[in-house]
Amino acid sequence: MRVVRSIADLRAILRPLRAEGKRVGFVPTMGFLHEGHGALIRQSAARCDVTVVSIFVNPTQFGPSEDLANYPRDLERDQNLCLETGATVLFLPEVAEIYPTGFQTHVEPGRLAQTLCGRYRPGHFRGVATVVAKLFSIVQPDLAFFGQKDFQQTVVIRRMARDLNLPVDVVVVPTVREADGLALSSRNAYLDEEARRRAATLSQGLLAAQAAFDAGERQSSKLVKAARALMTGADSIQYLELVDAQTMEPFKGPVDRTVALCVAAYVGSTRLIDNVLLVPSPNLAGQNSSQSA
Ligand code: PAF
Repeated sequence: MRVVRSIADLRAILRPLRAEGKRVGFVPTMGFLHEGHGALIRQSAARCDVTVVSIFVNPTQFGPSEDLANYPRDLERDQNLCLETGATVLFLPEVAEIYPTGFQTHVEPGRLAQTLCGRYRPGHFRGVATVVAKLFSIVQPDLAFFGQKDFQQTVVIRRMARDLNLPVDVVVVPTVREADGLALSSRNAYLDEEARRRAATLSQGLLAAQAAFDAGERQSSKLVKAARALMTGADSIQYLELVDAQTMEPFKGPVDRTVALCVAAYVGSTRLIDNVLLVPSPNLAGQNSSQSA
């Protein structure tokens, strides 16, 4: 695995490979990698000839009162996970490499970025869209892999890739969970054992709603209620909403299309997000768990 820190070095590695017709996969991350990232890297390694992983804690997607300074880091462990899971190039740019002095051009996503997390984290998706557009332009991947845990992010990025005619397939990989349902997240590192147990009630609520849906329940309000009833470990729930999985707009009434049940909640001072997709027709299930743009 090659480790590079500059855009010029990365391009010098990728140029000849692309000229040979190699398929380039890309997994953008903010580091402190876990098996959820491992699943993205493995998929990329299985489907592409070259897999580039970037680790860049992107300052523009953090609000002023968010955890940028304390964001967990462990480069040695990350490098090992990248190696074990099949990454071929690890890109580790400094902030000045991505945002040099004078930087002033941003990607502003539209309505998709204004609901759910967008309501509570103003500017967050602008920061995500900007850095992902830049990374796509630097790496020029054929396929890019993102986790479904950040469902709204995947929808915003896929729209951005279409709107800006970026020649990349955005692949969404199902959320990896612990045995008790807790979605893997770098932020789980902030949880002590008791908080971790309480955090698992979020996914248990979502999975209960999914079970009710699978058993035939279609009333939005009942599905949300079934989820909320189990989320007893959260100190506060920022949102628990059913949204249309394409528009990200709130969805009410009987579920007649693919919807996402999404939650953001605090356990102690740690903000966690998770979601499940509810897909009315079994024929659509495959498309929605691992889809390409
Ligand atoms: O999901 C993440 O880790 C980040 O939002 C991403 C996509 C790497 C952009 O900084």
